Amino acid sequence: MIICYGSQTGNAENFAKDLYEDASEKGFKVGIISLASPDFLEKARHALDSSPVFVFITSTWTDGTPPPSCSSFFSWLQQDSCKLELDFNNVKFTVFGLGNSEYAANFCKAARDLDDRLVALGGKRVCARGEEDDYSPSIFGSWKDSLWVSQGARLMGNSVQFIQEDSDEESTSSAQEEDDLDDMLQGEEGGTCGSKADLEDLEDLGKIASRGKEEKEGVVTLRGKPKKMLNPSLEASLTKQGYKLVGSHSGVKLCRWTKSMLRGRGGCYKHTFYGIASYQCMEATPSLACANKCVFCWRHHKNPVGTSWRWETDDPQFLVDGFVSKHRAMIKEMRGLPGVIPERLEEADTVRHCALSLVGEPIIYPHINKFINLLHEQSISTFLVSNAQFPSQMENLVPCTQLYVSIDASNAEELKAVDRPLFSDFWERFLECIDILDRKGQRTVFRLTLVKSFNMSEVEGYANLIRRGRPDFVEIKGVTFTGGKKPQLGMSNVPWHAEVVSFASQICKMVDDEYEIASEHAHSCAILLANKKFKRGSDWYTWIDYPKFFELVRSGQPFTSLDYMTKTPEWAVYGRGIPGDGGFDPAEIHYRKGDSRTSTPMSSRPDTPSSMR
Ligand SMILES: Cc1cc2nc3c(=O)[nH]c(=O)nc-3n(C[C@H](O)[C@H](O)[C@H](O)COP(=O)(O)O)c2cc1C
Ligand code: SF4
Repeated sequence: MIICYGSQTGNAENFAKDLYEDASEKGFKVGIISLASPDFLEKARHALDSSPVFVFITSTWTDGTPPPSCSSFFSWLQQDSCKLELDFNNVKFTVFGLGNSEYAANFCKAARDLDDRLVALGGKRVCARGEEDDYSPSIFGSWKDSLWVSQGARLMGNSVQFIQEDSDEESTSSAQEEDDLDDMLQGEEGGTCGSKADLEDLEDLGKIASRGKEEKEGVVTLRGKPKKMLNPSLEASLTKQGYKLVGSHSGVKLCRWTKSMLRGRGGCYKHTFYGIASYQCMEATPSLACANKCVFCWRHHKNPVGTSWRWETDDPQFLVDGFVSKHRAMIKEMRGLPGVIPERLEEADTVRHCALSLVGEPIIYPHINKFINLLHEQSISTFLVSNAQFPSQMENLVPCTQLYVSIDASNAEELKAVDRPLFSDFWERFLECIDILDRKGQRTVFRLTLVKSFNMSEVEGYANLIRRGRPDFVEIKGVTFTGGKKPQLGMSNVPWHAEVVSFASQICKMVDDEYEIASEHAHSCAILLANKKFKRGSDWYTWIDYPKFFELVRSGQPFTSLDYMTKTPEWAVYGRGIPGDGGFDPAEIHYRKGDSRTSTPMSSRPDTPSSMR
């Protein structure tokens, strides 16, 4: 057996390796090739001489296309001349697809097209196609079972014996049943395991192969009942990335700036722009799922996607308690970290801010309003970032301390390229959210993440969006390089701070009747444009009076962003900070490797009111 995989971010590759191990254990002679390999054809020809069965495992990407890394192979396969290069009449094959059912008609399309194309070229399907949905309980195990009893396995010298080994005493496997099974798997049109329609088939397969009752029930329960958002492999992957999961759809993570400020090494740009104490900030989300697959997502696409809430739902009080307790536990672990300032560590035990921007789309959580209110009741401020795909949820949202929308591009084409949204009417949804933001009368922010070669072509488009949504602030930030096994972006996509400043200045020039550059955080390549209503004389008032905000919320009376603004310190104002390191708080100390100096705690600085700490 030769396993050929097409994978962009490693999922199909992992499935291929799993199958490789299983097949080896079962005694099959097995090889493995990537469809992205430049010498695929040579290897495939060689394999054809000795290997009777090809197993193709491939994911599907944007608009139902094959993974970009394998585009050469898939283009080659479309050409008529490919028949001259490989004897497809001799190819016995099966296909397993990976995808996400949220992509509706494009679900596992690359695998389906591959399956059809191989038949059209003369190949013989020896086992029904399998299809794995990112968020359904895995179908892969059942599909492998079907492979081990298929014609393919028999061609490789094995048969139903593997099922018999595992089966219980009631096993009724017989030659007749094997034939039934093959008939079912073969199907005239070439069936599938894994799609909803085929769950019936899997139940039948369960009966025929006499698999355990539990497994059969597992398949049956796929229908109807809401699922858990995270399956065990997603849970493992997110945990590996440092998330502390709370309940079944939420997570909290310790931000690197929280650690940095605990050690007196500087806060994040929200400290500079709005006066948050980064060491008392908790980064969390009540929904790890969102409706995009942004190219810069540092979650490496291990988070689930969805166009609506269709999962089991946890109680908001449970989430708030879980977030705070897991955050505090992570803070406690910082105790032994060299350079931690004891006074800050003690204060950090009290959470003062919650950045609802960790991952996913917080506003699709059905109890988002209750959740926000619970945070405010504990005097925890809320900075909520939405990706502007859910207008009705945006409309119904209660006031947050600061409400953001991500403006990842200035036109539909670029937004599609950057966010790779699930919704086909993504641009209309995006504009509707911007209109709602304007009407909400809250403290609002546009967040622009600049990605070179993706969304920095059209300054005027951004200016138009700003005029349309009239946010209080516009944060313009260079994308952060996320690395990862197979990064979507390279360092060439990351703009320098000077480029961000220049781009921000160009945008600002187009809206300078209302906006001005108010602050910067050079370390994060971030610039803040503020509406001039936050300026008094030469002083800026971009910082937030947090106690005042909670007072206003508790009053139940309507209020605006001007009611809880407070003065921005001089060091945080654009052009008045440390030359070359604008926006770095002078009370902190820049860390350089090998530097053993300690820092001045924020609390001892005269220009920082205690309410800001
Ligand atoms: C940008 C993007 C576009 C996607 N488009 C589709 C699609 O059209 N159809 C589908 O079934 N799955 C789609 N998916 C889901 C992937 O196929 C799925 O996450 C798969 O597990 C990725 O496997 P890989 O890491 O091996 O490439 C898409 C994923 C991303 C990130
Ligand atoms: S909206 Fe956020 S969580 Fe979703 S893909 Fe984009 S960056 Fe990642």
